[in-house]
Amino acid sequence: MAHRYWRRRALNDHSLRTYDSILGLLSNVDNPTPLVRITHVTPFEHTQVYAKLEWYNPFGAVKDRVAFNMVNDAEESAAIGESQELVEPTSGNTGLGLAMIANARGYSLTTPVSNQIPLEKRTMLRFFGADVLELDDDLCPAPGAPEGAIATALEIGARPEFHMLNQYTNRSNPDAHYKTTGPEIWRQTRGAVTHFVAGLGTCGTITGVSRYLREQNPDVNVVGVHPNEGHDIPGVRSIRQLPQTEFFSPDEYDGLVEIQNSEAFELCLRLNREESITAGPSSGMALAGAFKQIPDEPGNLVVVIFPDSIFKYASSVVKHLAGLGSAPAPVKGKQEVLLDGMVENVRANTDLTVATDTAHALWQADRPFVLDVRNEDGFAKSHVVGATNVPLHDLATRASELPDDKDAPVLTICERGNISLPAVLFLTSLGYKDVRSINGGTLAWRELGFPTESS
Ligand SMILES: Cc1ncc(COP(=O)(O)O)c(C=O)c1O
Repeated sequence: MAHRYWRRRALNDHSLRTYDSILGLLSNVDNPTPLVRITHVTPFEHTQVYAKLEWYNPFGAVKDRVAFNMVNDAEESAAIGESQELVEPTSGNTGLGLAMIANARGYSLTTPVSNQIPLEKRTMLRFFGADVLELDDDLCPAPGAPEGAIATALEIGARPEFHMLNQYTNRSNPDAHYKTTGPEIWRQTRGAVTHFVAGLGTCGTITGVSRYLREQNPDVNVVGVHPNEGHDIPGVRSIRQLPQTEFFSPDEYDGLVEIQNSEAFELCLRLNREESITAGPSSGMALAGAFKQIPDEPGNLVVVIFPDSIFKYASSVVKHLAGLGSAPAPVKGKQEVLLDGMVENVRANTDLTVATDTAHALWQADRPFVLDVRNEDGFAKSHVVGATNVPLHDLATRASELPDDKDAPVLTICERGNISLPAVLFLTSLGYKDVRSINGGTLAWRELGFPTESS
């Protein structure tokens, strides 16, 4: 009997948790992500708070819904040809979901990402098979950054062999939540939900869910939560960065709350230790927003989106452990610590760096050798006139392209003045005697109106 069942039926049965394909596990109203009551860390006596645990999606985050819907819609509308490659700028989770959906559907994926997203995410994107382009950008890609992840993706997406999904403008992003997350919440709360709370990144979640819930009950209260400027919570945007996404509609929210980085990480830690819920930093932020904004009244039933779990944030969390009263774990090897120390010393040593205007004066007077250590794409778009490009990671193998005269002055430069610092150390170790890194990098050079060229 059992054998026949296995042979005959297409197996997508949520009651048996048996599936034809991993994509069958994507959540929907028949297979919702869990809703779990917050009991220990809540300050409320009457208001009930439930967390929607989005890492129960097959690739670990709320973005799996969006990645799937964007690819599906693009296939259905024939916007994407079979042989095309996908390209998408991402702060990590959309890329991780897309990489796996691309694998399942036979596409390849290129992801321009900020070099500030956690190492775990960049590593796993590569492990899943994506072509990862690491760029100097804000933690959440900034559309205005000329060499950032979004600009790079737009440029690659314009080539005929590529298709860019663009979660920042693609209606399939909020629609994914309108079709799945919203109906799940309505059904799981039996229509009793009174408040919906979400952290704001692309604003796809808040837009799609609130639209669905308010169609069922126009009185559902919607609260958006964002971090302070200078935060380090991947996936969400500060109030300055939010208008850069098309779906940010503050007039439609009943509340907009700012949460400090430290508050978010503190609540994230408490969720893990006191609730045994393995929530990530943006979950802590959204919950802190709910606690701040929503009154404690009988009948309130709050649903807060918990976008992903803590496991991919070890390298972010380690920076906060000491501040949270725990001993930081040594995540770096001794050599890395030594190298970091050397870079810090270079930064502090004014003889090894040079202000942008001083560098410009030197450049005008003597045309010293300017070594640009960014990747080829960044260099090609705009660089100091006459600069030579050897990416930092190629310096050891391409040292022959450096000046023969080790007494000659050399100025190193990158996008912002960060990775040009280890280049100073490297050249000094080769015996160059007059090497300095240009503070503020190509960005500051351009902003001051100094001459650049493209190639
Ligand atoms: C960890 C995390 N939290 C929150 C969000 C915000 O969700 P949305 O982009 O739908 O606003 C994201 C989106 O990337 C995310 O990755």
